[in-house]
Amino acid sequence: MCPNDLTGFLAVTVALVVSVASADAAGDSRAVAIAQHGDAHGTPSCASCHGQVGEGNAAGGFPRLAGLPATYLDAQLNALADGARQNPVMGPVARGLSAPERLQLADYYAALHAPTSTPTAAPVQLDDRLALHGRWGEEIPACVQCHGENGSGVGSRFPPLTGQSSLYIANQLHAWKQGTRRGDPLGLMQTVAGKLSDADIRAVSDYFAAQAGGSPSTVSRHEVESRPAPTASGMTQRLTFIPPEGPIPDSDFGKVAELGRRIFEDPAKYAGQYVGNDLTCSNCHLDAGRRVGSAPLWAAYVSYPAYRAKNHHVNTFEERLQGCFRYSMNGRSPPLGDPVLVALESYAYWMAQGAPLTPNIAGRGYPKPAAPALPPDYQRGARVYAKSCALCHGDNGEGQRANNGSAAFPALWGPDSFNWGAGMGSVANAAAFVKANMPLGLGGTLSDQDAWDVALYMDSHERPQDPRYTGSVAETRAKFHDDSDWMYGMTVNGHVLGSDSVPPGPRPRRKTSTSHEAMYP
Ligand code: HEC
Ligand code: HEC
Ligand code: HEC
Ligand code: HEC
Repeated sequence: MCPNDLTGFLAVTVALVVSVASADAAGDSRAVAIAQHGDAHGTPSCASCHGQVGEGNAAGGFPRLAGLPATYLDAQLNALADGARQNPVMGPVARGLSAPERLQLADYYAALHAPTSTPTAAPVQLDDRLALHGRWGEEIPACVQCHGENGSGVGSRFPPLTGQSSLYIANQLHAWKQGTRRGDPLGLMQTVAGKLSDADIRAVSDYFAAQAGGSPSTVSRHEVESRPAPTASGMTQRLTFIPPEGPIPDSDFGKVAELGRRIFEDPAKYAGQYVGNDLTCSNCHLDAGRRVGSAPLWAAYVSYPAYRAKNHHVNTFEERLQGCFRYSMNGRSPPLGDPVLVALESYAYWMAQGAPLTPNIAGRGYPKPAAPALPPDYQRGARVYAKSCALCHGDNGEGQRANNGSAAFPALWGPDSFNWGAGMGSVANAAAFVKANMPLGLGGTLSDQDAWDVALYMDSHERPQDPRYTGSVAETRAKFHDDSDWMYGMTVNGHVLGSDSVPPGPRPRRKTSTSHEAMYP
């Protein structure tokens, strides 16, 4: 049933043996032998189905194995062996291997070079909406948010999709829907796949199958014009206002609004001179500023000018935007009238057209969860973090990059995160955001208590200094953070938060940064 091309078999085997000859352990040669020849107990050679160098076989639905993370491959072999992942072809093969053999084969295939396939389908009419934007009305994140730009993969838990065939990808999505594939962390894929129609599955499978493995991007996440058509969800049904669905018109105004959308989704690229970290506006205002539950931009637009206690005067919308750069983006404020602010304001206005002009518009802001039954607690928060957040944001809140180097999961604390002056540094704001939006694709699933606990935990770590720092942590706390929502200036594990912060502003290693005036006022 599987292709077994013996022509040239020996030559390739020799080449492979030579290419791994430097590897030492006996396990490696055992893995090579099974991969190429199978074993005496009836295990067929892996190569007969997965290809001589683990490149996969599109027509058979046999996946690429080469270059996939070893921990992922090992976990899949174990799942196939114990039945958490059911497959009539691969299941028996996995069961025929011992646990050490599974591990050796995982290491062997992980070390092979990822195939550099060329795009298989003509790039015409590929529907990239789900792949690149998701469908947030049904809480479906974009596939690339977890699988990295172009599906290049992120770390050891989010496998690359490039190099996989349309048939294989579709088979997996159907398997999750039908319940024959399980064991994915937090049930993330099960949740995503459960919301996809057959047409959706065809679209995303064709899209990723057509992406070139390992080669430079042809379609950038940020260049694509089309917007997903939002559908009503539990969250949006109650709303009287839903922002426009179509693409931004290509008019003189539309061009500027479109630039604003790009800045919002990739400020380091389009407004790099004002930005000091790798965050994007849409990291905290999801779905490019549309999503209810993450302070949507259209609701903000109709709410200014407004008095703000943060700076004790009436702020225009533009001035409100300035603060985002200074604090959340850990950069510096663009001057009023700067093209960056004009573009962002235009984008917000375009989304808000037709909305009632009222700061009480339904859907504004981050919906605050109910007060916690127990005071938020660091230790409990650490446990929530380890269970539900570290997978993506890293054990130390540092975030993760995709295999192609692009930003994937943003930093939650440390020198690459927002600074102490940012709104997300308030435990109440963070609890509200996390409850509604995290873990990604599973918004609303944490209990209120868990959301408060993990928010306190996240905001009890060092991050860049507040740009309004007076030279004294105690004084800065008294002036700007003097309530129970702020951990700044508090002592956690014997450390006074804010006493060991890196200075705010772009770090020298950043390519996009230009020289700046001192960040302290
Ligand atoms: C008879 C054909 C066949 C042979 C031989 C075979 N496989 Fe597979 N393998 C498959 C198929 C089909 C799948 C996809 C199963 C599915 O759709 O869930 C698969 C899936 C896998 C996966 C999961 C990959 C992923 O991306 O999740 C791994 C790992 C794997 N095989 C390793 C091996 C190893 C190691 C061997 C040799 C010991 C081997 N396979 C031999 C057919 C085969
Ligand atoms: C919220 C994060 C998340 C999103 C969004 C997501 N994935 Fe995944 N995906 C994962 C994780 C985690 C795995 C690894 C599952 C495992 O370990 O069993 C995975 C695995 C897969 C696999 C299996 C790959 C293989 O080698 O067997 C496919 C196919 C896949 N995802 C397709 C998609 C597509 C298509 C989309 C968009 C519709 C998508 N994913 C969106 C997290 C995500
Ligand atoms: C780290 C998360 C984060 C990032 C990144 C971020 N914001 Fe925000 N933003 C927030 C939080 C939290 C609030 C609410 C702040 C408060 O109430 O003090 C907010 C509030 C806003 C508001 C006011 C909303 C309202 O309804 O009044 C606007 C407008 C805004 N942000 C725009 C932006 C723009 C533009 C960017 C990118 C340049 C950006 N934000 C980046 C977290 C973030
Ligand atoms: C499946 C991966 C995943 C998991 C799990 C996850 N996040 Fe996120 N998180 C993301 C992504 C991706 C974004 C950016 C969202 C966007 O750009 O649309 C994000 C954004 C954030 C942000 C705003 C950006 C920033 O850097 O401050 C916070 C805060 C956050 N997550 C906290 C958490 C917490 C707390 C948990 C655990 C309860 C968690 N996340 C679990 C993927 C994840």
